[in-house]
Amino acid sequence: MGSDAPAALAVEAIDVFYGESHVVQHVSFALRPRSLLALLGLNGAGKTTSLHTVMGFLIPRRGRIMLFGEPIAGLPPAAIARRGIGLVPQGRRIFPSLTVAENLAVAAHGAATKAWSAERVFVTFPRLAERRRQYAGLLSGGEQQMLAIGRALVGNPRVLLLDEPSEGLAPQIVAEVARAVAAMKSEGLAIVLVEQNVRLALSLADDVVLLNAGRLAASGPAAAIAADPALIDRHLGVF
Ligand SMILES: Nc1ncnc2c1ncn2[C@@H]1O[C@H](COP(=O)(O)OP(=O)(O)O)[C@@H](O)[C@H]1O
Ligand SMILES: [Mg+2]
Repeated sequence: MGSDAPAALAVEAIDVFYGESHVVQHVSFALRPRSLLALLGLNGAGKTTSLHTVMGFLIPRRGRIMLFGEPIAGLPPAAIARRGIGLVPQGRRIFPSLTVAENLAVAAHGAATKAWSAERVFVTFPRLAERRRQYAGLLSGGEQQMLAIGRALVGNPRVLLLDEPSEGLAPQIVAEVARAVAAMKSEGLAIVLVEQNVRLALSLADDVVLLNAGRLAASGPAAAIAADPALIDRHLGVF
């Protein structure tokens, strides 16, 4: 990336509070276009809060958030989504009593452009295509995660925020989700990946940001972070 190319997403010194509780403190990171940034930290470190702030569910008390060079902090979530940020929430919220195809249709409603049609989601996730007429509540955990990702994709994001996609999934399913995340990156998306599975995150990431108790503990290229087990151990516990 040239030094003059804006980051896909730049979080600049944000402070986020719940009431008087200061849970994200002066955190900054930059997501490069067509890259994957892993946002890591123990439970309660402020990862979900950071993603929710980017999405506009929370407004930072200080700091800026820039999407391809344009400020977005303070815009309502629907406007932020329209500008091109998609969130796959922790716990993969889908409609269990709608079919796979209906879940995608509901999510696509109102999307301005159709670069990611349901058909393109089905090409990316063939298992969803096979199950398009099944009730989403009957899918396996891994399939539900792919559907949750598909729901974000049909909103046509330029930046995708994934909050713990491997949570609660069996190891071979985690590998499938990992392949899906890698496939989306190769389609040109810029991705922020929040994960408790550090090995998985390091295997997919270009860059890593470590949060500890709401503060930036370390950041850098994934290879450099992976080569420093003491750093990982200090901030994430046993590696
Ligand atoms: N709605 C809320 N109200 C008050 N405190 C909250 C709320 N949500 C999260 N927190 C607190 O904010 C901190 C960061 O939480 P969170 O961003 O969910 O962490 P992570 O996703 O890294 O596990 C934690 O101390 C958590 O208890
Ligand atoms: Mg969380």
